[in-house]
Amino acid sequence: GIKAFIFDLDGVIVDTAKYHYLAWKKLANELGFEFTLEQNELFKGVSRKRCLEILLDIGNVTATQEQFDTWMVEKNEDYLAYIDEMDSSEILPDVPRVLNYLKGKNIPMALGSASKNARAILEKVGLISYFEYLVDGTNVTKAKPDPEVFLIGANKLGVSPEACVVFEDAVAGIQAANNAGMTSIGIGDESILSEAQYNFKDFTEISNDFLGQLIS
Ligand code: BG6
Ligand code: MG
Repeated sequence: GIKAFIFDLDGVIVDTAKYHYLAWKKLANELGFEFTLEQNELFKGVSRKRCLEILLDIGNVTATQEQFDTWMVEKNEDYLAYIDEMDSSEILPDVPRVLNYLKGKNIPMALGSASKNARAILEKVGLISYFEYLVDGTNVTKAKPDPEVFLIGANKLGVSPEACVVFEDAVAGIQAANNAGMTSIGIGDESILSEAQYNFKDFTEISNDFLGQLIS
């Protein structure tokens, strides 16, 4: 049976993809090109550095190392201005119910995110205390779909990968969970996340009964 749960952050616990999008769009516009919501899909689950590389490709912009570093900082400062305004009202529907249910069953939980801002965001929305361990952009070297982020999480929680469930909204994240040998649950569009073992539109569709069966 399942002994632990690992949650992605952006797009699973909070809808921060919209803030990432606005910050990248501002930079693109400053550099003289458009950046669409559709293109933003490619940025989900991808590191900040890789996102900027893709963005510059989209705009056909070449950058010196110095410009590249400046734009990374600028994007993050704009993003953090949005994060600064966040509170618990931005937690996605039924996430607290699922966290409370699992906590009530003494099931350990970890975060598995590519973001270097993960701790700050969890603190802002008041969910930090649910997680025994945060694996995030500050302690992961290999990006999803590499399983590293989730394998570190399982290791820190002291459970085998096969006994872990992962909640993910990104294709690369589902692949990372599958590559880790974990049970993958896609949160979002089933046609995009078809590689997941289970699919739900959001947490309102995940019943306590379903969770109870996983851990029984
Ligand atoms: C992921 C997001 O969770 O974190 C990506 O899906 C983002 O879009 C990545 O680029 C890195 O985030 P940050 O906060 O370190 O820039
Ligand atoms: Mg995500």
